[in-house]
Parts: sequence; structure tokens; C-alpha cells
Amino acid sequence: MAYRFACKMEPGVGCRLIIAIDGPGGAGKTSVGREVARRLGYSFLDTGMLYRALTWLAICKGIGLYDGPRLASLARSVEMELRPAPPEAMEPSILIVNGEDVTGALRRRDVEEGVSIVSQVAEVREALIGLQRRIAAQGGVVVAGRDIGTVILPNAHVKVYLDASLEERARRRQRQLQEMGQKVSLDEVMAQLRARDRLDSQREVAPLRPASDAVIIYTDGMSLEQVIEKVISLVEERCS
Ligand code: DC
Repeated sequence: MAYRFACKMEPGVGCRLIIAIDGPGGAGKTSVGREVARRLGYSFLDTGMLYRALTWLAICKGIGLYDGPRLASLARSVEMELRPAPPEAMEPSILIVNGEDVTGALRRRDVEEGVSIVSQVAEVREALIGLQRRIAAQGGVVVAGRDIGTVILPNAHVKVYLDASLEERARRRQRQLQEMGQKVSLDEVMAQLRARDRLDSQREVAPLRPASDAVIIYTDGMSLEQVIEKVISLVEERCS
């Protein structure tokens, strides 16, 4: 499907770029992307929420997570709407699926465990492409995911690939889960992330990998603030 960006880039008029942030789970895409978007006055789309919502829906409907054809028809028929969340909310957006607010269910353990399986189905990915591109089309947006710079928005103006060691990512994810009231051991989080890394990077369709023109930021030893500033400096370079 061909598409164009309708994005303003005239300095002084307002530089409304499309920023893609990819990377493995726990690398900080959501924390960084959300704050970069806030500082720039952009909107933020965490595409993992869409795959999580579909996984949640499949679980609720009793659809097997390996049942490609039924998952595909579910993905084609689902209605998803994203609304901005208040700044203090855990998730960056409120996600309405078939009229129901499902935001609170997206970090459930069964969803966490199933989402990498569901997101391997080619038709599921295909069904979510249009929504992601529509949200990004006006520019002034930060989009976080696994295949944003490679497949969804290959013409993004700034592409960042955030990475960190498994241990560091597990510590961050564990902290995030604790803040949401879930108690999980570091070993358990590491095992989950390792399994997800393998599925996300070895799948046939849109595997996790940096785009050839992405700036790779390895964030071990960097503070959140340092990563945010680095991404903003890349945006400023592109706008000047
Ligand atoms: O970023 P996250 O942890 O919320 O992502 C959950 C899963 O969704 C992840 O294991 C892979 C999948 N995903 C994907 O395949 N492509 C994306 N653009 C975003 C997420």
C-alpha cells in the first residue's frame, strides 16, 4: 500500500516530524517516547498496546493463540480507538476495543505471555498497519514498536533503535510491573524477556531489527534523561 507523509517540516512554521522508536522489550521505548513527545508537543503511539489488546481479546473469546485464521479474522473485524491518557496514567493512551476500555488489562500476565505469539501472525500485523499509519500521517508524532522504522513508517524523519542488556531491561520491566502492583522475580522477568526477544527477532514477518538508517542508542549506564535528550537532539538536528 503506497502512502505519503503530510508532515510539515518548515523551520519556524513548526517542525512536525515522524519519529520512530524501535527496540526490544524493556529498552525504554515507552518512557522515552512518551516524554520526548510531551516535550515536543507531539502525540505518542505505543504500538505494543495494539498487539496486547488483540491478545487480550483473543484470550477473552477463547481463541487459541496459535490459531492463525481465527486471529486474522478477529484482527480484521476489531475496532480500536486510542484516546490520550492523563499525564499521570501508567499507560500513555486509553485504548478502546469494540467500545470497551481495555487499558487496564494490557499488562496482565496471560497477555504478557501471549502477545509475542499473536504478533507473529502475518494477517494480524497486516490488519494493524493501516491504523498505525493513519495515526502517524499528520506528523508531530512519536511511534514506538518493533518494526516502525523498517515496515510501518520506513520514511520516518528520525529513527531510533533503543537497546540495553537483558539484565538492565529486566530490572526496568520489573520496576514497572511493581509500580502496577505485580510482584515478579527478576529471574522470571528475565526469562519472559528472553523468550520474547527470541520470538520477536526470529519471526518471519517484520522481525525486530534496527532499520539501516536508525541511530542505535545502547542505554546501559545512561539515565532516562540522557536518552531523552539524545533523541531530542536528533530531532533538533533534523529540524534545523
Ligand atoms: O512493546 P511491548 O512490550 O508492549 O510489545 C508487546 C509485544 O507486541 C512484543 O512482544 C512484540 C509485539 N509488537 C510487535 O510485534 N510490533 C510492534 N510494533 C509492537 C509490539
